[in-house]
Amino acid sequence: MTILITGGAGYIGSHCCVTFLEAGHDIVVLDNLGTSNVESLNRIAEIAQQKISFEQIDIRDKPAVADALKRYRCSAVVHFAGLKIVGESISDPLSYYDNNVVGTHRLLAAMQETGVRKLIFSSSANVYGPPETQPVTEAHPTGPISPYGKTKAIIEQMLTDLAVSDESWRIAILRYFNPVGAHKSGLIGEDPQDVPTNLMPYIAQVAAGRRDCLSVFGDDYDTPDGTGVRDYIHVVDLVEGHLKAYETLAQRDSADNCLTVNLGTGTGYSVLDMIKAFQRASNKPIPYTIAPRRDGDVASCYADTSQASKVIGWTAKRDLEAMCHDTWNWVCKNPNGYED
Ligand code: NAD
Ligand code: WQD
Repeated sequence: MTILITGGAGYIGSHCCVTFLEAGHDIVVLDNLGTSNVESLNRIAEIAQQKISFEQIDIRDKPAVADALKRYRCSAVVHFAGLKIVGESISDPLSYYDNNVVGTHRLLAAMQETGVRKLIFSSSANVYGPPETQPVTEAHPTGPISPYGKTKAIIEQMLTDLAVSDESWRIAILRYFNPVGAHKSGLIGEDPQDVPTNLMPYIAQVAAGRRDCLSVFGDDYDTPDGTGVRDYIHVVDLVEGHLKAYETLAQRDSADNCLTVNLGTGTGYSVLDMIKAFQRASNKPIPYTIAPRRDGDVASCYADTSQASKVIGWTAKRDLEAMCHDTWNWVCKNPNGYED
């Protein structure tokens, strides 16, 4: 039995492939390579010391997805494929609804048709919108602001309805906070295709000399040092959460066939904390200037992680030092990402 990993060539998906292979699972990667580089698959193969099955398919191509599910005799899907840039989703919402919502609908229809009923889905803390209480529990009301967050919330609705409609489905909805870091080998990591919009890859490129200076978006928030606070989680911890979710789904009974959990550490760090930690890890200066607040940003957002511990038996293990160290190792070994 094989696990199909959509978006397996991307940042989080590539780390998930390694973790699942190392746990002894057979996998096949399905990816359209729209925002990733096929070289990541060679690197996964190098780390795991085995060949990777790969299908260059778009999740919106239902017949091709159904065919792959049948050919590989898949028993489950881990679904990472999607577009994820908040600003881009505001300027081009139709692409986001098409790729994320229509794409997931077609994937689910292909699973339904081929009898594959186990799914792990990459959701986001973005579905919560501005936190009303902290730490954010799964019971916090959803209210995404950006089209990106709305696509994730719509998909979550689709999944919960599907689980109710047919008790043979087993679904895990995982809401990620801020994934950072890289595999300890430095062979795979985050490889933004354009100017990074997220903090950690931007800091890493400043440390590496690819960019001159970081703009800190606001220093007048109601936080200990005035800069935004987030729950950064090491990508390897994150994908280990997927493995735990997969194992949990295998044991779940039909009465409770859809679970939703936050994947975060429960600890918030500010932008200035991140700069200092990265300076320590890289031994490089990170020049920065204070810029105006970025539209749509909240002061602070960090997870309540008690459900993840209770429901899937998982807690994050890696600390901020490891997150920065592993990012720096990846960047030093691949200064231009997979293009090298
Ligand atoms: P990524 O862009 O590195 O990976 C996404 C992968 O999906 C890429 O390989 C891309 O080519 C593929 N893809 C996109 N659309 C596709 C389609 N229509 N058909 C087939 N393949 C397609 O992004 P990532 O950071 O690895 O994110 C993975 C998932 O996790 C996404 O769904 C994202 O929304 C979610 N997520 C990411 C973060 C984050 O900060 N990185 C946070 C929360 C949730
Ligand atoms: C973190 C902090 C910024 C860049 C986004 C998505 C979320 C998830 C993760 C996908 C904030 C500050 C940033 C910079 C800065 N992705 N910052 N200068 O906004 O918490 O979350 O990515 O699901 O859904 O919304 O992450 O890394 O962009 O920002 O000062 O150049 O760093 O203001 O306080 P964010 P981020």
